Amino acid sequence: MNEITVHAPATVANLVCGFDVLGLCLSEPYDIMRLRLLDKRQVIINTTDNFPLPKDPALNTAGAPLLEMLAVLKQDVGFEVTITKQIKPGSGIGSSAASAAGAVVAANELLGNRFSNEELVRFAMFGEKVASGVKHADNIAPCIYGGVTLIRSIFPLDIIPISSPPLFVSVLHPQIEVRTSDAREILRKEVLLKDAIRQWGNIGGLVAGLMKGDYDLIGRSLEDVIIEPVRSILIPGFDIIKSECKSAGAIGGGISGSGPSIFMLSRDEQTAQTVAGVMKSIYDRIGVNYHIYVTTLNHQGVVVKQNA
Ligand code: HSE
Repeated sequence: MNEITVHAPATVANLVCGFDVLGLCLSEPYDIMRLRLLDKRQVIINTTDNFPLPKDPALNTAGAPLLEMLAVLKQDVGFEVTITKQIKPGSGIGSSAASAAGAVVAANELLGNRFSNEELVRFAMFGEKVASGVKHADNIAPCIYGGVTLIRSIFPLDIIPISSPPLFVSVLHPQIEVRTSDAREILRKEVLLKDAIRQWGNIGGLVAGLMKGDYDLIGRSLEDVIIEPVRSILIPGFDIIKSECKSAGAIGGGISGSGPSIFMLSRDEQTAQTVAGVMKSIYDRIGVNYHIYVTTLNHQGVVVKQNA
């Protein structure tokens, strides 16, 4: 086998209170990536879309992780990568993570699966460093493992898959760009002890609620007193969307990643569709263009579609 196609899905991370530590994999949208094995130590990046992403592999979120992988391989191999992005860069639903995770999962498949998922996350984090200047794994890990993951620690890497009940996800993606690096820059570097206590209570509650399948506990725990109050200012209509979606039956939700996307979790598809309708009517009133997705929790992560 020397060619492979994978679907690399979008992710929601942070999961509200779980800044940089909790993430969830979505079934849609996803990037389509084709990788070809080369017999030379090089990485070539091609794109088939109109997003102005760097072709230099060292500066590309798919290329940088593959260069790291080549650095540990003691053989003359390389990869030609063709990326069709369907997850808009700067959307807050893990566009850079999808490219990074898709690249390493596909490369690993071509190499006969010699690396563990944890090693793949370690390589893929170099893509996040290229994208935002910081290595974080809250999007990468759910994209590779599927489902919900907790990053207990990055150095050393400690990833814990978290089981969960069925979840439907409504995502509003306002067509404005919020750069992750800017959305990190505006955050306060210190937090009050009372806020930290509330936040770690919520993270514990969210993890317990997911593992117990307790939707009410999940809903009560989807509260962020540290990051959301700062970042939500960048997102038109954030507060009203959140309160009206909850009134319409959503369990809860918040900013997806560093924004501008907003996500809401529901117990069933019908509620998720109603919630999407609420998002739509508010944004039609506000007059900002948007995309809306209604999708499910993806337990598989990156999906291998085709071998050749
Ligand atoms: N955890 C990151 C952040 C995700 O919120 O800055 C961004 O993709």
